Amino acid sequence: MNAQPGQHPTDSTAPSAAPSDAPVRVEGIVKSFARLRVLRGVTLAFPRGRTTVVLGPSGCGKSVMLKHLVGLLRPERGRVFYESERIDTLSERKLAPIRRQFGFLFQQGALFDSMNVYENIAFPLRELEGEAPYGEEDRVRRVLRLVGLENVIYSSPSELSGGQQKRVALARAVVLEPKVVLYDEPTTGLDPIRADVINELILKLKQELRVTSIVVTHDLISAFKVADYMVMLHEGQVVLEGEPEVFRNSQDPIVSRFLRGEASDEELRAIREVTSSNREGARFSGGLR
Ligand SMILES: Nc1ncnc2c1ncn2[C@@H]1O[C@H](COP(=O)(O)OP(=O)(O)O)[C@@H](O)[C@H]1O
Ligand SMILES: [Mg+2]
Repeated sequence: MNAQPGQHPTDSTAPSAAPSDAPVRVEGIVKSFARLRVLRGVTLAFPRGRTTVVLGPSGCGKSVMLKHLVGLLRPERGRVFYESERIDTLSERKLAPIRRQFGFLFQQGALFDSMNVYENIAFPLRELEGEAPYGEEDRVRRVLRLVGLENVIYSSPSELSGGQQKRVALARAVVLEPKVVLYDEPTTGLDPIRADVINELILKLKQELRVTSIVVTHDLISAFKVADYMVMLHEGQVVLEGEPEVFRNSQDPIVSRFLRGEASDEELRAIREVTSSNREGARFSGGLR
């Protein structure tokens, strides 16, 4: 073993990215499901205390990438690091304390219907610290205040709007005071105003809790509002990363098409072919440009 200063002594396969600047890193991760290769060698470092937005079309592997960061999925090839520790090879038992450093707002941020808001948020505290966690009520109220929902503390999830449910799920995700917060499509399914409340909360949590945030989305308004740093995935690879300005100015056809919300010629041709073979007169193809 040739450990270098600042590196974990058991880390014989030292990461190439600078760990002090990026608490979460993946290197060359490859992941397939059956014959579908979803991630084709993804290398990324997520800067500390900043918000990184991961963009890309549906199905390009954003959620799969996110799940690797907390060991919910394991790569076939490549490595995943949290701080100086390689985590993709850890047992579930050794992963547990690392997962605790992460708050995860899942795409289906399901609350438990059988519990009220208070109990939903107290759930991770009780799981970790037993039936009567220290200062439970204060901790629950603090995170509910953060998301502006202290007034619904004893409501049942079914009494809340979709946007409020997301905010409660977010309060639950941060009740253990994570160092990193992962958001999977936090604004999907919300109207623009409720989506903007979530954007504001992402900014607020970054400031007040000083967390490193990683936001997966295909919502461009949200992306440009919250991002300090951006990454675009396409067909399982990183096509561009950098500050938002780099994206705004990008000449890359894949990136600029995505930002303009345009399908590629290839995709349009495929649709037109189907349309014209299904409807011999190609009645609809004139409308597709
Ligand atoms: N557990 C799984 N088993 C099989 N296929 C999966 C699984 N998870 C994701 N996939 C497939 O991987 C691809 C990428 O999925 P995902 O990361 O969820 O996309 P998105 O970028 O929309 O989040 C999709 O084709 C999806 O069907
Ligand atoms: Mg997804």
